[in-house]
Amino acid sequence: MLVDVILGLQWGDEGKGKIVDYLAPNYDIVARFQGGPNAGHTLKFDGKKYVLHTIPSGVFRTDLINVIGNGVVIDPITLEKEIQKLKNAEVTFMDRLLVAKKAHLILPTHRYLDAASEAAKGKDKIGSTLKGIGPTYMDKTGRNGIRVGDITQENFQIKYTALKNKHLQILKLYPEVDFDLENEEKKWFESLEVLRSIKAIDCEYFINNAIKEGKKVLAEGAQGSMLDIDFGTYPFVTSSNTVTAGVCNGLGIAPSKIGEVIGITKAYCTRVGGGPFPSELENETGEFLRQEGAEFGATTGRPRRCGWIDLPQLKYTIMLNGVTQLVLTKIDVLNQFDTIEAVTHYVAQGGKSQDLPYDMNMVDLNVINTSYQGWKTSLEGIENYSDLPKAAKDYITTLEKILEVPFTMISTGPERKKLILKN
Ligand code: GDP
Ligand code: IMO
Ligand code: MG
Repeated sequence: MLVDVILGLQWGDEGKGKIVDYLAPNYDIVARFQGGPNAGHTLKFDGKKYVLHTIPSGVFRTDLINVIGNGVVIDPITLEKEIQKLKNAEVTFMDRLLVAKKAHLILPTHRYLDAASEAAKGKDKIGSTLKGIGPTYMDKTGRNGIRVGDITQENFQIKYTALKNKHLQILKLYPEVDFDLENEEKKWFESLEVLRSIKAIDCEYFINNAIKEGKKVLAEGAQGSMLDIDFGTYPFVTSSNTVTAGVCNGLGIAPSKIGEVIGITKAYCTRVGGGPFPSELENETGEFLRQEGAEFGATTGRPRRCGWIDLPQLKYTIMLNGVTQLVLTKIDVLNQFDTIEAVTHYVAQGGKSQDLPYDMNMVDLNVINTSYQGWKTSLEGIENYSDLPKAAKDYITTLEKILEVPFTMISTGPERKKLILKN
């Protein structure tokens, strides 16, 4: 069997968690391949809401194995809290949760370095979630990191102390960053016990053997393609490869093992944190989308910036990911509009184009919009694609023509059940 992938095509928060949870019963294994507790994946069912940060969104489906892959960075403190919350909600999953030995650990000092880096950037700050993501991936690529597999080794304490001391040296450059290391360090070491209680695996062997045995694997992305370290709106990005290529590195599989690539987009667009956002609406319409779509960060609670769907941006990320099917989420948020807009072209120095410029931060970018007719009615209770209002179907068909990939699912609300299968 091949590994199917679910990932976000915008700047994150496209509704990945909901779609992974919906599709999970079709799979044997759900595996997170990158990112860390910067992610916030929301699931709603049976009148309850859950937000996951490190644990894969397949956790609520019984019998399914959930893997935290080697490409993920783990903060044991956040992970412990997340596990505790799920246990309090009487979700049983610990025997179905596996963690890659090669996944890197976020130390308390990584979080302080994140804060220091952001403080030093001043008004140009990235708007990081301050979970220590950037500094942890820096130590990984700088060959200084500590991995899950290290916590059972004899030299673990020595490694930890060496890395912490290196961080403390750097932090001396940022006297304005205040921290209580003793307390956080104590919590961190205590929470390692919980991490030790999770079965650690050689992710690359585990996944490849599962594939050989005919098991179905779903790879769950975090963030969105526009936050990818290589292809996003650099430097306003996260520090991992959020695109399909990241699945290979993040789980240890070959490109030939990738099957369906399911790309998720909202019917509009949001971004949280700094950086360019060509279709942003800094007006009443943007505010309406924020309120109607409850666009407040699942991890930080920050208000999300809102704008129209951006078709050149989506064409770009569809290309990067090799998307084979699209999912449209939050279409219900547009129910009240007379007309719905979409960005169709960018206008920069070189004129009108559907390609993204090298660096959106540096060019004076304008956009061209097109309007589509709204449907002005609730989508409540609609279960079949054919029952959607004509204007909604026309809008979806138009997007499909422009994006050249079919939509296979339309999400009409946060709850698990509010999903329409198309075709
Ligand atoms: P993720 O990070 O991609 O998993 O997405 P988030 O959970 O951060 O943000 C998506 C938000 O939209 C969550 O609050 C979801 O409950 C909600 N949501 C998902 N799908 C829909 C939908 O179709 N309609 C509405 N109104 N909300 C949705
Ligand atoms: P999910 O998986 C939306 C954004 C931050 C910031 C930038 C860098 O829920 O879609 P980082 O903490 O990685 O150093 O932040 O990336 N960001 C997200 N935005 N959804 C996310 O995850 C995000 N994870 C990081 O707001 O702009
Ligand atoms: Mg999110």
